[in-house]
Order: sequence, then structure tokens, then C-alpha cells
Amino acid sequence: MQVIASAPGKAILFGEHAVVYGKPAIAMAIDRRAYVKVSKNPDKKIHVNIRDLNIRGYIDFQNNAIISDSPQKGILKYILNSLKKVHDGSGLNICIDVNIPIGGGLGSSAAVTVATIAAVSKYNNINLKEIEIAKYAHEVELEVQKSASPLDTTISTYGGLIYLEKDAKDIIQLEIDYNIPVVIGYTETRGDTGKLVAEVRKKKELYPKIIDPVIDSIESVVEEARNSILKNDKERIIELMNINHGLLDALGVNTKELSDMVYTARTAANCGSKITGAGGGGSIIAYCPYETEEVLSAIEEIENAININISKEGVKITVSN
Ligand code: MEV
Repeated sequence: MQVIASAPGKAILFGEHAVVYGKPAIAMAIDRRAYVKVSKNPDKKIHVNIRDLNIRGYIDFQNNAIISDSPQKGILKYILNSLKKVHDGSGLNICIDVNIPIGGGLGSSAAVTVATIAAVSKYNNINLKEIEIAKYAHEVELEVQKSASPLDTTISTYGGLIYLEKDAKDIIQLEIDYNIPVVIGYTETRGDTGKLVAEVRKKKELYPKIIDPVIDSIESVVEEARNSILKNDKERIIELMNINHGLLDALGVNTKELSDMVYTARTAANCGSKITGAGGGGSIIAYCPYETEEVLSAIEEIENAININISKEGVKITVSN
């Protein structure tokens, strides 16, 4: 038996970092997916091959260890911890394609985690509901990153355009009948989400009177943005995105490369642009309802850029014999 599961990456439109403190956030699943194929390995080892990243390795389930020479083997930790939730340690071949830019910010590790849990659980005849996949995947992110909100794993599991309520109490799909035209700019440098979240926490503890209001302002931006998105109020969405970028800058997660992309986008067209995800390398998002192509080519002049759309589909599993 062979099981293939796939899950989308994500782009956060509003609210990253503040979401770690129980604030609401808005994010979309993107039309770039991670694919995880699971089949039996007769030699009883758990072999992992991430083809597009050139990562190969073994998972030593019993000793909780990863054996790989690959410099980027960090992603294998998510796979090991995912297996611990839904596998008994018998031999497996796990073949992965991550069709999501891994510069960070686009939820590649969450997508790999969600798809791994979905594929391996199905392979073991465990029928998990979406809510259970999302719960296990969030636990894995917490174990690997130490601090993580459920946002990335939620989006990757359910797909769509999601408003995550305060304290993650509810997941609300924002039903819109128009496309959100978005360009992503990304660097080759991966921001370390765990480290960036820890640095923001440190700043918050050191300067509570300054940083707490910044976090509260991000919450207000998210609430305003939700209404503006539902009304397709382009000018307000643009403005709110730019405000959100300034607030993320105040939290200290900006870099020169991200800043250059953010302002290149705004110079190329009337658009909103901000860091998306953890920052510190990684990606920016530009909401460009008027001149998408212009923004895309302007960012491409200095870094990498892609045009993305919302993926309505979350995690998906197919079984073949
Ligand atoms: C990372 O994609 C988003 C952060 O808010 C961290 C998290 O929510 O766990 C920076």
C-alpha cells in the first residue's frame, strides 16, 4: 500500500507574532503544497528522501535520532516528531516534495508536518479527523520550535482564508467571492522562527510598556482588516498592511533585505506590503489589487518573487495499492 498526503503552505496577511500571545490573525493557504508519499520499507529502516531539497536520511525511531549528512536536516525533526504521534517504528519509505519556497515564512515545515501526520496515520489505518491532524501538528511545532501558535498548522490543515479568533478559540473561514491578488518576495536566508519568537518575547519582558501596546495595535489592525477584507475595501487593506509592517519592524523582526522588498513593492505600485511570517530573513507579502505584474517584476530585480493564490483545499490524502 502507498499513501500520498499533501498540505498547502500559508501566507499570513495580518497578525504574526501577536498571535503567539493569543491575539487573532488572518492567513491564507497558498497554491503551493508539500507532498508526502509513504510506503513499506522491507529493511525495517525509516528512510526519508526530500527530493527537491536534496535531503536524505534515516530516522532512528527507538533512539529518537536523525541520521543524515545533509546541512539542512532540521526539517527531519518535524518528521521524527510527527512519526512519534502516529507510527509504531516499523520500516517505511518516506518520499517528500516541498513545492513551497523554503526561505521561511510560507509554512513549509507546517505543511510537511501536516502531510506527514496525515500520510503516516492513514498508512497505519488510523483515521484522523482534520481537528486531530491540526492538533498533533501543532504539538509537533511546539516540540521542535519550543514556542508556536496553532496558526500555521491550522491553515495547512483546513486551507482557505482563515480568521483565527483570539486565543485560537475558533477558526472562521472568511468567505469572499473575489481573488486576493498577492505577490510573495522571498530571500534565500531562512529566518529561525523559534529564535525570532524568543527574541520578541525577551523584548516584551524587557519593555512591557512599549511592546504590549504594539501587540495590542496588531490586534486592532487584524480586526479592522477582517472587516475591510469582507467589504473588499482595497485602500484600507493596503493601509492596514503597511501599518502592520511598521509594527513588526518595532518588534525587531525586520531585516534590510525584507525592508528593501517591502519598499520596492510600494514604489512599483499602489500596494500594501509587509513581512509575512516570522521575519529575520524569509518572506514579504504584497497585496497588489491594481498592478500585480509590476510588483512581481520589481521584486524579481532584487530577490525572488512569486504570484500566489488562495488554496481552498487543505490536507488531502490518496491511497493506492
Ligand atoms: C510564523 O509563521 C508565525 C509566528 O507568528 C509564529 C507562530 O505563530 O507560531 C511568527
